[in-house]
Formats: sequence, C-alpha cells, structure tokens
Amino acid sequence: MKFFIDTANLDDIAEAQALGVLDGVTTNPSLMAKEGITGAENILAHYTKICDIVDGDVSAEVISTDFEGMVKEGEALAALHPQIVVKLPLIADGIKACKYFSDKGIRTNVTLVFSAGQALLAAKAGATYVSPFIGRLDDISTDGLNLIAEIRQIYDNYGFETQILAASVRHTMHLIDCAKLGSDVMTGPLSSIKGLLKHPLTDIGLAKFLEDYKKGN
Ligand code: E4P
Repeated sequence: MKFFIDTANLDDIAEAQALGVLDGVTTNPSLMAKEGITGAENILAHYTKICDIVDGDVSAEVISTDFEGMVKEGEALAALHPQIVVKLPLIADGIKACKYFSDKGIRTNVTLVFSAGQALLAAKAGATYVSPFIGRLDDISTDGLNLIAEIRQIYDNYGFETQILAASVRHTMHLIDCAKLGSDVMTGPLSSIKGLLKHPLTDIGLAKFLEDYKKGN
C-alpha cells in the first residue's frame, strides 16, 4: 500500500519523506488555508515546494466547478510539475473533466467520494485515483471502512485500474484497516504514519537490550 500524507505543511512532509516510506502528498483548499497559503500565485508556488520535497505524486485540487474552468485550471496545474495529479470533485463536470484528462494522459484524483456508485463512475471516467473519505463517513455514524471494501470488490470484479486512495484517514487503526481491505493507497496525517512505530514491548525490549549490553561492557 502506498502512503500519502494529507497536508500542506512542509515540515510534516519533509519529516515523512525523511522516514523513507512516503509515496506522495494530497492537499485540498482547506489544508492550504490552514497553512496560510492564499492567492493563486502563492498556491502554485507552494505546490512546487511540495514537489521538490517528495518523490511521488502530489494531488492539487481545482477550485472551478464547471467543465471549462476545471480543464483550464487542471492543465495549468499539470504543467506546473510532472508529479502533479489533478484533483477533481465528484460532480458531473468533474467526471467530464476526469474523462478529458484521462484521454489526454493527465493523471487525476477524483475526490469527495462517499458511495460505491460514485467510485464506479470515477473508474469509468478513467480516474487514476479515487478518494473515498472514510473519516467523514465515520463522523456521521456510517461505516467508512465498508465503503473501501465495496469499492475493492467492484474494481476487482471488472479489473478497473483506478487506484483506491483511502482519504480522510484520521488515525493509525484506519490505516491498518485500509491495508487489510486492500486499499491501494492511504492518505492521512503524519501521526497516522508515525503511530505504526509504536509498541510498548519494542520500547521495553530495547531498554533491556541496552541495559544488558552495558552490564557486559
Ligand atoms: C483527501 O484528499 C482529503 O484531503 C482529506 O483526506 C480530507 O480529510 P478530512 O476529512 O480529515 O478533512
């Protein structure tokens, strides 16, 4: 499973990259705003900074909601850097734009996916990635992980190549459950990745090894 980090924070991206397990980054307008990145020029410059840190795919989201606007914005984003993946919302014009970009060989991430039917539509339109938001489904007392299982089954039934990018991952258990369900990618905060390191028996075992080493030296 690929690990993406879901942030526009350059320090967190650099820390995950330094760990050696990072495969990409996802951003959205809210994450950009959280870092105080505003204005088209600053936002584009920030994408370039992210691409310079990480080796893999960097999802950059369009703001337009009409087909022409999405195409114009998406083409500008894709031209910015070869690592950029154009992120499009799951609305009718987003699906049309996804098909347009997929026919042109430009990679896409269809976002704001909350049902298996939406994921099927994105795959039919040739999306590179589809982003089901599991945390936001959990927030409304719906089973987010079940959506990952449903999409996996549908994509496997028909051999769709669209990669399932489990999004809105909030914690380490989400990440592990997505891996068990066969999600191709997960995107979450740095803490969800660093949580994988933690086990009290590792800490106790290491302390004992070091203590015993000191006794013998
Ligand atoms: C996905 O690409 C989104 O950026 C993200 O995962 C949303 O997560 P949230 O529900 O924690 O805001």
